[in-house]
Amino acid sequence: MSTDASLLDRDLPPDIADLPAVLDWLAHLRADAPVWRDRYGMHHVTRAADVERVLHDVATFSSDFSAVMPGSEQMTKGMLTRIDPPEHKALRHLVSASFTPRRVAGLEPRIRELCGEMLPAAPASFDLVDELAFPLPVTVIAEMLGLPAADRGRFRAWADGLFSMQVDDPKEAMNDPRVADAMGEITGYLGDWCRARRADPADDLISALVTTEVDGRRLDDEEAANFSTLLLFAGHITTTLLLGNAVRVLDANPGAWEALRADPATIPATVEEVLRLRPPFPLTARATTADVEIGGVTVPARSVVMPWLLSATHDPDAHPDPERFDPARTGIGGGAQTAFGHGIHFCLGAPLARLEARVALEEMTARYARLSVGDGDQRPYTGRVLGTRRLPVVAT
Ligand code: HEM
Repeated sequence: MSTDASLLDRDLPPDIADLPAVLDWLAHLRADAPVWRDRYGMHHVTRAADVERVLHDVATFSSDFSAVMPGSEQMTKGMLTRIDPPEHKALRHLVSASFTPRRVAGLEPRIRELCGEMLPAAPASFDLVDELAFPLPVTVIAEMLGLPAADRGRFRAWADGLFSMQVDDPKEAMNDPRVADAMGEITGYLGDWCRARRADPADDLISALVTTEVDGRRLDDEEAANFSTLLLFAGHITTTLLLGNAVRVLDANPGAWEALRADPATIPATVEEVLRLRPPFPLTARATTADVEIGGVTVPARSVVMPWLLSATHDPDAHPDPERFDPARTGIGGGAQTAFGHGIHFCLGAPLARLEARVALEEMTARYARLSVGDGDQRPYTGRVLGTRRLPVVAT
């Protein structure tokens, strides 16, 4: 691919809401500038092999941003995604038993029941996010944590606020007063629950967080509140986006809905292919601990590096003819697509997200001869997540 100066001359990535522009830009970077420095000095990594390397080499590419974003420690204390080995292993172990494929499989009847209650009977026109894509995963994770599902209106308002915030320099995100206020409200709410469960434990994840010892000590209330905040938000917004993305991808590919109805056994592979084409988290971030050479560029120590999952999943070296929707290509659970990340921070909730998406698609394809995307503003997110806040659909 030849260099298109206008694409490489930009000093910030295009907005994620304009997906074709982002994919075009990423293709140019992969070809001509696979490690690219933006206006704020952040290094964007776009080739699949380099993205995997960054996520794999946790000694050089740290998840702890305290050296590059002073002041961020307080807000991220206890957050698994922001912790390096050796603490990471013990903390992850604390909740990992609740998320194994076997344990999660026990939730299938409840997920199916919720889909039955939430999905309107055909024929109907409705908003898929309002009726299913939001309430299903938030109810499941709230029940796992032991939070009242009746509070889900607050969770939605918080998630919507946080994921819509435009922070110009991402290095300043943690110091942005709007982010701090929103996070303060959320961790305040979860902190109250942590204290209540410490005093009177129940059979739920928050009780496990506050009562189990990790490396000979218990999490304090702040760590437990931050960790449960991560579980609450990682546990629903992503799956909400995945469900919407799945319906949009199926709608854009004639015959795909009918193929799933005819052979529901292909649903898990379809979910993997939707994740590859439209990963809900298009990028993540790491901080370098030393000078490092990657993609022919020397990145100095204490720099922010952004591995683009969306670019790795569209890299033709990893996925030939990457824009083509082809559920047969990825198979199930094979690590072939990197929408759930890679290495020690690989998504803890992947078995749950896969289960929710499979059951939701089974229930929708069983009910509806066709589910088409209708007219109306889908309100795509503009920040760091890929998907829409609304999805008008017509079920027949
Ligand atoms: C389609 C749905 C989902 C997607 C695309 C997704 C994506 C990801 C990605 C990319 C990471 C790695 C981030 C990094 O390395 O910087 C991650 C980590 C994580 N995810 Fe998910 N996620 C999804 C659903 C869930 C669910 C349902 C939960 C349930 C609680 C969850 C909990 C977590 C946690 C706790 C981590 C941190 C793991 C660690 O740092 O060791 N995710 N997720």
